Amino acid sequence: MISKKIKGFFYGADYNPDQWNKEIWKEDIRQMKVHGVNVVTLPVFSWAKIQKSEDEFDFSWLDEIIDLLYENGIYVNLATPTAAQPAWMSKKYPDITKTDMYGRKYKHGGRTNFCPNSPNYRRLSKKIAKEMAENYKDHPAIVLWHINNEYGEYCYCENCRKNFIKWLKEKYDTLENLNKCWYTSFWGHTIYDWDEIEVPSALTEILPGRLGGRDGTNFQSMAIDYRRFMSNSILECFLGEAEEIRKITPHIPITTNIWGICDKLDLFKWGEECDVASWDNYPSSKDHPSLISFRHDVVRALKGGKPFLLMEQTPSQQNWQPYNEQKRPGVMRLLSYQCISHGSDGIMFFQWRQSAGACEKYHTALVPHVGHENTRIGRELTQLGEELKGLEDKIIDSKIESKIGIIMDWSNWWAVEYSSGPSIDMTYIDRIMKYYKPLYDLNIPVDIVNPNMDLSKYDMVIAPLLYMVEDKAINNIKSFVEDGGTFITTFFSGIVDENDHVRLGAYPGAFRDLLGIWVEEVDALYPEMKNGIVVEKELNMGKDVYDCNLICEVVHSQGAKVLGRFAHDYYKGYGAITENSYGKGKAIYVATEPEEGFIRELMKKYCDENKIKPILKTSEEIEVTKRIKDNKEYIFILNHSKKPQQIDLEVKKYKELLKNQVLKGIINIEPKDVFILEEY
Ligand code: GLA
Ligand code: ZN
Repeated sequence: MISKKIKGFFYGADYNPDQWNKEIWKEDIRQMKVHGVNVVTLPVFSWAKIQKSEDEFDFSWLDEIIDLLYENGIYVNLATPTAAQPAWMSKKYPDITKTDMYGRKYKHGGRTNFCPNSPNYRRLSKKIAKEMAENYKDHPAIVLWHINNEYGEYCYCENCRKNFIKWLKEKYDTLENLNKCWYTSFWGHTIYDWDEIEVPSALTEILPGRLGGRDGTNFQSMAIDYRRFMSNSILECFLGEAEEIRKITPHIPITTNIWGICDKLDLFKWGEECDVASWDNYPSSKDHPSLISFRHDVVRALKGGKPFLLMEQTPSQQNWQPYNEQKRPGVMRLLSYQCISHGSDGIMFFQWRQSAGACEKYHTALVPHVGHENTRIGRELTQLGEELKGLEDKIIDSKIESKIGIIMDWSNWWAVEYSSGPSIDMTYIDRIMKYYKPLYDLNIPVDIVNPNMDLSKYDMVIAPLLYMVEDKAINNIKSFVEDGGTFITTFFSGIVDENDHVRLGAYPGAFRDLLGIWVEEVDALYPEMKNGIVVEKELNMGKDVYDCNLICEVVHSQGAKVLGRFAHDYYKGYGAITENSYGKGKAIYVATEPEEGFIRELMKKYCDENKIKPILKTSEEIEVTKRIKDNKEYIFILNHSKKPQQIDLEVKKYKELLKNQVLKGIINIEPKDVFILEEY
């Protein structure tokens, strides 16, 4: 339970009452009740309104609205307004605004325009957090703290440089060590004095847009260190506020709404510091539903599988995509249940009342410009609010259980995408999705895991493109396999250590003995090129030859069994897929990027071997997930397609909780509809 005060789902929105005259507040409350809203987030962007000058705090308007909400049974997710500092503050303390990668010092404007290493920003953000905690410590309406908003902007200023040097001194201790780890013998970059260190930016070692639009760098280890440092600097801003708040209201949990699954912050480290994980889900209508599921699974992983909170989604339309399609009827409800089915205990929106001015005025809200709830979207919101009430006893606090872990790691993400060669198409999340999606299609749940986590509860661990891997993680993975686990990894994995230095000897360095192979060459294909995988009989797949592309490696077996071989070119006949016995388990290597059908068959094979079964067998357009509580299973069936679909429930009989119906045998599900089944 996120808060003992709200025993059901969090259902509400970002609320900006300070954009409106007070006369409208009562009408807001009336409509909140219509939709069943039980919590609102405020005051996310009201720093300027609360603090007119350094010593003047005015909470009167906030007190008034919070009291009014509470009197009407609506709780508050109290936000610190530190994502947008007042103009007077930027003016008085010029160290606050950020400096971009091109060395351009920003003036006041926009939001998230602060340097995470600005001493004045740190001091003043802690101060407002403390003032708020003092002011609201006894207010019964407060159920959660929401620190800042969508952290994630980097800065490259002199204060950042100074703190970077401090951070490096702690990490490397001596310059000799730093020079070694940064490989500064290359291009005569030896550093003799800590003060010679510059931040990696477009003015120094970053090559903007060099890698097919992504930034490249001359020195990966330095650039990756800057990302680690920035993620940590921003986390220190969060922790500065959290520390003040925890001193005063230790009983109220703290979160921050993360901006999607972004490469800016090492979210596993952030998860350790939040009490509740929460995030903002703004898919484009062209995103495949499996990508949205994956993102939910990442957020669930941040607190080790505990229920998370969807902090923002739009009721229908966004304003910042190039084309802002309305969510079609039923889609908001479907996406909300998708989120719950992956572990969320709440559905919150941006925002409550649609702004009349500025850049978000065409972003849908719960109260549209027409001003009343009698609209298509209004009716959908009311219906969802009612449905969620009916589900709370069963679903709140239920968990997801999976037997498969997919490894994801931020340092690896940075290393992969800074790598100059072998291919600019070697992007990390896309490689993860190649393995996530077939399992999603098969209705087999997965957890996203960090390579250093305890893997023993899984039967299978998949590590797509785990290029950078530290010794500790290698040992962790090896013990998992020794104890009987099945490990699957792909091309260009195990290659470098945490300093981005190649593990010499032969590829795939870290995993050579585990996989029982060595790789002589790594070929990168142009997008229009392909090779093939000729499948050995033993693999027993649907087809004899499958396409593959992107990367093809020349693999020599040193004990591993070859299950598939390249079909063409000078490495024709060399292993493309290998399997090695190791301890009580197996380690499988996929030395190329096979077409989707191949990966699906491969997943099926190893799931079968490990007795991992789909929750239900359905068409790929149907998503099936499961939450479990007190030994009872709740199966979510989501029809993402535009047509009615049939599903075979096999022998069991179920009660469907949303429409309160009994279902068995072959059932029909309408387009965009949702079923939640409980065994009957
Ligand atoms: C983000 C922000 C909100 C709002 C929405 C609009 O998620 O957190 O303040 O700008 O985007 O989609
Ligand atoms: Zn800075």
